[in-house]
Amino acid sequence: MTGNNLAIIILAAGQGTRMRSRLPKVLHQIGGRPLVGHVLTTAGRLDADHVEVVVRHERDQVVAALAEDYPGAVFVDQDEVPGTGRAVQVAVDALPADFDGDVLVLSGDCPLADADTLRSFLDAHRAAEAEVTLMTAVVDDPTGYGRVIRDADGGVDRVVEQKDATADEAAVSEINAGMYVFRIATLRKYLPAVGVDNAQGEMYLTDVPGLLRRDGSRVAASVVSDVTVTYGVNDRAQLAEVGRLLNRRIVRRWQLEGVTVIDPATTWIDDDATLSPDVTILPNTHILRATTIAEGAIIGPDTTLVDCEVGADAIVRRTDATLAVIGAEATVGPFSFLRPGTVLGARGKIGAYVETKNAEIGEGSKVPHLSYVGDATIGRGVNLGASTITANYDDVNKHRTVVEDEVHTGSHTTLVAPVRLGAGAKTGAGAVVRKDVPAGSLAMSVAPQRNIEGWVEKNRAGTGAADAAARTRVAE
Ligand code: UD1
Ligand code: CA
Repeated sequence: MTGNNLAIIILAAGQGTRMRSRLPKVLHQIGGRPLVGHVLTTAGRLDADHVEVVVRHERDQVVAALAEDYPGAVFVDQDEVPGTGRAVQVAVDALPADFDGDVLVLSGDCPLADADTLRSFLDAHRAAEAEVTLMTAVVDDPTGYGRVIRDADGGVDRVVEQKDATADEAAVSEINAGMYVFRIATLRKYLPAVGVDNAQGEMYLTDVPGLLRRDGSRVAASVVSDVTVTYGVNDRAQLAEVGRLLNRRIVRRWQLEGVTVIDPATTWIDDDATLSPDVTILPNTHILRATTIAEGAIIGPDTTLVDCEVGADAIVRRTDATLAVIGAEATVGPFSFLRPGTVLGARGKIGAYVETKNAEIGEGSKVPHLSYVGDATIGRGVNLGASTITANYDDVNKHRTVVEDEVHTGSHTTLVAPVRLGAGAKTGAGAVVRKDVPAGSLAMSVAPQRNIEGWVEKNRAGTGAADAAARTRVAE
C-alpha cells in the first residue's frame, strides 16, 4: 500500500435516461475520451491505493470501452437496488476488509473536476477531521442538483434532492457537487441505514450526511470557487456545454505553452493531442486523438487531423487527414484527403483535390493537383503531373505502384498497378502505364481507341455492370 491510504469510487452504473441515447451516458465523448474516461484519467493522478468503477447499465459495453486504457481500475457490479448509496455500498464491500483510509467518491458524469481541485478537496477533508466532506458550490441556477441545507450555525445539516425538496429548500443556491470524501468506517456504518423512502425510491448517498448529523458527528463542506469543476452531464445540452468548457481549458493550456490559437471558439483539441511552441492554429480546426504537431507548423483553417504526426514548419490547409505523417516543411492542401498510411516526406507537397492512402511520398516529392495515390511508394524529387492516378484496384485485388526518384509524370497519367517507374523516367500526357518503365525512359501509350464488345458480360458475369449491359442490349 502506498502512503496515501485512499480509495476512489467512480459511479458509472446509471443509465442516463435524460440523454435519450443507445449509448450509456458515461461513454459519451468529449475531448476524444468518454466522460468517465476523464474521471479515470484524473483519478490516475491522485496516487490512490484502489480505483473502482461501479457499473450496471450496459456493463459489458462500459467495461470494454475502459478496461484497456485504464488497466488499474477494478469494475464492481451494482445489483438491482437503485441509487448512488447502493452504488457506493457495493464498491465499499469490494474493498479489502482491512482498508481503513479515506474514500473519494466521484461521478462518471462529472468530467471537469481536475486533479488539483481534488487534491485540495482531500486536504480540506483531512484538515477538518470530519466523517465526510462534501464538495459544494453556490450557483445561479441550482435546478436538478441536491441542495445543501445548513443549520443555524452555518454547519451542513443535510442534503435534499430536488425531487424531495420543499419550495424553501429548492430555493437554496448551494448545491451538492456529487463528490465526497468519506472515512471508510463511516460508510460501513451508515450505508446500511440508508433507505429508499424518497421520491425516486432509490438509496441516496446524500442521506448519509443527515444521518451523521443526527448522531452528532461532523459533516464538513468544501465550497469550490470555480463552479465549472462541479458541472455534470445529464442531457445533450450539458454534454455540449461541458465539452466546450473542457476544450477551452485544453486550448488555454496550449496557448500558455506557446501555441497561437486564432479562434479558440472554433478550435477543438483532444486531450491526447500534443502541440509545440510556435504552432499556429487557424479557425475551424480539429486536432483529434493522439495527433502531434511539431514547432512552427501552421494548421488550418478548416482542417481535421485524427491521429496524425505533423513535422516542424509544415503547412496544412483545409485538409482532412487520419493516421497520416506529414514531414517537416511539407505543404498539404487546400482540399486534400489523407487517409491512413499516408507518409509525406520533408518538403513534400500534397496539393489541391488530392486523395492519398497507404502512400509513402519521398522527400521533396510533389503531388500537386487532382490526384489519387493509393498503395504506392514514391521516391524523392518526384513530380506527379496533374491528375496522375494510381489504378491500384483491379476490381478484385489491390496492387502497389513504385515510382523511383526524380520521376516526372505527364498530366492525366494512369499508373495501372502493379507497376514500377524506374529512376528519372517520364510519361507522356494521358499515358496509361501498364508495363514497368525502365530508368530514364519516356513512356507513351497514345493509341487509337478500340472497343471490345461484350467484354463485361463475358468476364464479369453476375455483376451489376454485366446486368446493366444486358438490360441495355435487350432494350436496343
Ligand atoms: C446526484 C446527487 C445530487 C447531486 C448531483 C451532482 C444523489 C442521490 N444525488 O444527483 O445530490 O447534486 O448528483 O451531480 O446522489 N449512479 C450509479 N448507480 C445508480 C445511480 C446512479 O452508479 O444506481 C451513478 C450515475 O451513473 C452517475 C452518478 O451516479 O454517474 C450520479 O447519478 P445521477 O443519476 O446523475 O444523479 P443526479 O440526479 O445527478
Ligand atoms: Ca448527474
